[in-house]
Amino acid sequence: MKSILENRPALAAEVDKVAETAGYLWQKGWAERNGGNITVNITEHVDDAIRAMEPVSGRFPIGTTLPRLKGCYFFCKGTNKRMRDLARRPMENGSVIRILDDCASYEIIADKAVKPTSELASHLAMHNQMIASGNGYKAALHTHPIDVLTNLLWSMIPETRAFCPKGLGIVPYKMPSSVELAEATIAQLREYDVVMWEKHGVCAVGPDIFEAFDQVDVLSKSAQIYLTARSMGFEPAGTTQEQMDELKRAFNL
Ligand code: 13P
Ligand code: ZN
Repeated sequence: MKSILENRPALAAEVDKVAETAGYLWQKGWAERNGGNITVNITEHVDDAIRAMEPVSGRFPIGTTLPRLKGCYFFCKGTNKRMRDLARRPMENGSVIRILDDCASYEIIADKAVKPTSELASHLAMHNQMIASGNGYKAALHTHPIDVLTNLLWSMIPETRAFCPKGLGIVPYKMPSSVELAEATIAQLREYDVVMWEKHGVCAVGPDIFEAFDQVDVLSKSAQIYLTARSMGFEPAGTTQEQMDELKRAFNL
């Protein structure tokens, strides 16, 4: 069977970026077993031939209604699939879905009937909000970092502002894969590009999957610096407000 990526270099490049990021997540130790998920809005790369493609699955409910997603297409990591496998074989460990006209259900159209991530409600709710806001963001990432998951990070947030300018939103614990988690996530996303799912992991959004990854990476590095300093017996002071202002001016932040 022909892959949807064949003769579609722009679409193939997006899926390549997802595969590359999946490899980073595994190397970082943030993706045990099937931990974490990625979705990318690929609607801009969809042509008439894709629109005419017959589904390879039945229809599935999203669990919530998302009016902005009518006719949108997403590449999604498959549920129970490993990031380290997604890195090497993206179209066997992920699939392309089409949102149906009711804005409440989807079907899988390529390449294989790989059921999308169990966190689909949260991912699609984030995409719906990103479209509504007009920010042009196309990617959503959820991962299980080792060091971001500490409330010690909170005290490092001001120091991370230069590279993760909006800081980190906090979503109190909600059942994984629930619509409640999706709703709490998008409430935080109005202010932040990265949110912590308490006792679970983090979610990040960005113009593409690399930018979403970078924000989590920067926060994780801040947490590591803080924790390393603490383990050596001192409380790091971080940059002063004056130094932050200087950085902001120099880099136009
Ligand atoms: P999936 O394998 O369904 O993507 O779930 C992984 C995960 O991290 C759930 O929160
Ligand atoms: Zn998770």
